Amino acid sequence: MMADRTDATKLVEIKKVSKYFKVSEGTLKAVNEVNIDIYRGETLGLVGESGCGKSTFGKTLIGIYHPTKGTIIYHTADGKPMEINKKTLFSYSKMAQIIFQDPYSSLDPRMTVADIIEEGMIIHKMYDRKKRRERVYELLELVGLNKEHANRFAHEFSGGQRQRIGIARALAIEPEFIVCDEPISALDVSIQSQIINLLHDLQKKLNLTYLFIAHDLNIVKYISDRIAVMYLGNIVELATSKELYGNTLHPYSQALLSAVPIPDPDKEAQKQRQILTGDVPSPINTPKGCPFAGRCPYVMDICRQEKPVLEMKQGHLVACHKVTK
Ligand SMILES: Nc1ncnc2c1ncn2[C@@H]1O[C@H](COP(=O)(O)OP(=O)(O)OP(=O)(O)O)[C@@H](O)[C@H]1O
Ligand SMILES: [Mg+2]
Repeated sequence: MMADRTDATKLVEIKKVSKYFKVSEGTLKAVNEVNIDIYRGETLGLVGESGCGKSTFGKTLIGIYHPTKGTIIYHTADGKPMEINKKTLFSYSKMAQIIFQDPYSSLDPRMTVADIIEEGMIIHKMYDRKKRRERVYELLELVGLNKEHANRFAHEFSGGQRQRIGIARALAIEPEFIVCDEPISALDVSIQSQIINLLHDLQKKLNLTYLFIAHDLNIVKYISDRIAVMYLGNIVELATSKELYGNTLHPYSQALLSAVPIPDPDKEAQKQRQILTGDVPSPINTPKGCPFAGRCPYVMDICRQEKPVLEMKQGHLVACHKVTK
């Protein structure tokens, strides 16, 4: 985690990025005009309900999807801004990597661990055969496995071990930026914290920047410097972890937070719960106005007319008509 944000430099600039999918019923706006800067060395948490667009956003950021609108600019280590497009995608793919949610489906069970980890190095023409093998051994040690694992197949490993292999694969080409897409959601609770601690240690050791996607607000709080809250493809609030938990402004963030259990049973019993009413609306052919209007307990006329912009109010960024400056 970043100790001091005052000298923070931008690593990824996301400018009005949207990702739409054409579906039979119309246009599905999975990601809608997202504007965020990600700073070098930080962990930016991204939270929101299932289907709100987190994975689509993560995949767009690392170039698996091309944005329907908007631009992504990556600031390389030598300080040059590079726009992500067809021409730059290959060199960008060496700097930005992803760790997937499900370590069962994301690793080819017929490949050996060494083949899986080496693949990126071969694509990027890194090192000769011998040196690549040494790197595989180094990477296995780095993620808490060992060289005896190299010639075994992915299906021989437990979930936690597979996720370690997935992390080694992502690290093999020495990226700077990693999208961690719910990297522990599919794992047993007992090993979740091991993987979180590993990611945390690797970040410090290798000076990595993370976009950390999660459902569980407790986990993001622990690992993130800042947190972005997403609703129907839109960022509705963005603040440092401390600010977001101490001064929650958006009614949707308040609802998400009130769903997180407090460890103290007395406090938990007294807590005011704000239950979300209504279903998550469809991201297809969305109505105008605030995306949260249909479920918001404080909805006003203007909310159904005008979409609120993400702007600085009461110390951090929030998109809500109800919140005063
Ligand atoms: N390839 C695709 N084609 C059409 N629609 C898609 C595609 N990928 C995602 N979607 C839709 O885009 C929306 C966002 O999906 P996405 O997987 O990004 O959500 P998510 O926040 O990652 O959800 P979860 O928490 O369940 O992983 C959903 O409505 C989903 O059905
Ligand atoms: Mg997802």
